[in-house]
Amino acid sequence: MASGATLASKSALPGAGGIKTVSAGSSGRAAADADPNQPLLDVRGVTIQYKTQRHLVTATYRVGFNVLQGDRFVVLGPSGCGKSTLLKAVGGYLQPTEGEIRLKGELIKKPGPDRIMVFQEFDQLLPWKTVLENVAFPLKTTGTLHAKAAQERAMDYIKMVNLSKFAHSYPHTLSGGMKQRVAIARAMAMEPDILLMDEPFAALDALTRVRMQDELLALWDEIRFTVLFVTHSIPEAIKIGSRILLLSPHPGQVKAEINSVPRGQENSNEAAALGREIHEMLFADQIEEAPNA
Ligand SMILES: Nc1ncnc2c1ncn2[C@@H]1O[C@H](COP(=O)(O)OP(=O)(O)O)[C@@H](O)[C@H]1O
Ligand SMILES: [Mg+2]
Repeated sequence: MASGATLASKSALPGAGGIKTVSAGSSGRAAADADPNQPLLDVRGVTIQYKTQRHLVTATYRVGFNVLQGDRFVVLGPSGCGKSTLLKAVGGYLQPTEGEIRLKGELIKKPGPDRIMVFQEFDQLLPWKTVLENVAFPLKTTGTLHAKAAQERAMDYIKMVNLSKFAHSYPHTLSGGMKQRVAIARAMAMEPDILLMDEPFAALDALTRVRMQDELLALWDEIRFTVLFVTHSIPEAIKIGSRILLLSPHPGQVKAEINSVPRGQENSNEAAALGREIHEMLFADQIEEAPNA
């Protein structure tokens, strides 16, 4: 039986095999190569606000966490708590109002091929390009590889997501799950430092969703990539995550970090208990509706 999950308050930072509580500001920010324990991604005190014509919307408030190489790091929180906002900031598509985000010690200022996003929507693919062309496209346009090498690498990743037979098919002929597989292959083919996944399976039917989760874990077993995965589903977080960050409802603040999630135990009593605990933590502050008299 795997050891139980360890839950820690927001001060916890990852340590080998569990949690280590450290005082604020004690995690180093030296050059990325100097310290193998340096986080790959370092998010510190990140507040993100949207200025609309009438309002200032605070999407996240002083969120901080670290992602280490090989983590399956899940950000879990209810709809509207700023998960997508946070992911877009890591992607470099928007800048924090306060705080900073560093990848390998470097401040993130703009999007780059070291961070590739996979979204929920099925229309991420170019409809006029085949599966192979879709996967090879960013490899070519970013100058990562020349045409032939790009095609070869694209085919490798298409194989990995079990779509070889569909390499020359167009997106409109594929199911939602297959389209997501192509989007994942395209992102992984870029071999980014960190894969950013924004509820990638949320629009799929329940059975396909479970299968895609299994496939993602199998891919991770094969390649050991680093993924920052956003979801509002507690069971999905427990299944996918090696570590989970809980965000409170709007505006998103860190509620807790779970630094040791048992793998492959999602149907166990232990996972159910963890799920209940997470649920209680997420919604502890919410006022219950008064029952009818
Ligand atoms: N472009 C925007 N302009 C104004 N407010 C926004 C914008 N995008 C998101 N928000 C607001 O920011 C908050 C967080 O949104 P989002 O990051 O999409 O949450 P989540 O992904 O967790 O559902 C929400 O209140 C949302 O309405
Ligand atoms: Mg979202």
